[in-house]
Amino acid sequence: MDNRPIGVFDSGLGGLTAVRRLQEILPNEDIIYFGDTGRVPYGTRSEQTIRNYAQEDCQFLLDKNVKFIIAACGTVSSVAPDILATLPVPAIGVVQATANAAVKATENKRVGIIGTAATVRSRSFEKAMLELDAALTVTALACPMFVSIVENGWIDPNDEVAVATVRRYMAPFKTAAVDTLILGCTHFPLLAPIIQRELGDSVTLIDSGEVTARRCAAVLSERDALAQNNGGCRFFVSDQPEGFTLTAEIFLGRDVREEVEMVSLQKG
Ligand code: DGL
Repeated sequence: MDNRPIGVFDSGLGGLTAVRRLQEILPNEDIIYFGDTGRVPYGTRSEQTIRNYAQEDCQFLLDKNVKFIIAACGTVSSVAPDILATLPVPAIGVVQATANAAVKATENKRVGIIGTAATVRSRSFEKAMLELDAALTVTALACPMFVSIVENGWIDPNDEVAVATVRRYMAPFKTAAVDTLILGCTHFPLLAPIIQRELGDSVTLIDSGEVTARRCAAVLSERDALAQNNGGCRFFVSDQPEGFTLTAEIFLGRDVREEVEMVSLQKG
């Protein structure tokens, strides 16, 4: 047993998709979440900048004495897997578990990937899937506007900006006749109902936050490191908490105002 918290980080709100699943799957775990809302988006930045941010995010969580780290960010998971692999506590990103789930799900072997520009450029999901099944046909597209839409909280299934943007981004996947689509950015599951409606029910959406939460549960259980806590959650953000709190409430279904704190990663 290990009662230390699980640390989860993302560039902003998106990692909450993993937190929600973690809380469902592991209700006795405490969670510390860091959302780098002062520097979101990561996905449009250079590799070096993303790596620097990833290092600082991990250090913030390590300073909170976490036992495990989830990079609930497709961009960091794609660009800095080596940083995650060399931390003093076990850590996972979202790529491998998501690739496994997509390869299992596809029947026609046509898989789509949506992510940030940095994620798509890295070809991380594509490489991980092709290693499992070289016969796949993969279509990948960067959807950076989805990040802004989610960070602004425009996630209502009838929001006209969200609906129009989804329609536009999904067109190539309809043409490619994919039967499986990887939501390779943890912000995107918040738009899943609109994406599903646009693509139709025959397309399986793979939520990278969800499969990664399951992987975390498996690793902790293998290591005999599960906790017996009350499932408390503390949220830290690097910019004013208001926007985060509002969308987090919609998404987690409860008022998190008391649990959110603003911090600065800059030392001194
Ligand atoms: N949530 C982040 C990801 O999964 C992306 C948003 C961003 O560009 O920072 O890639």
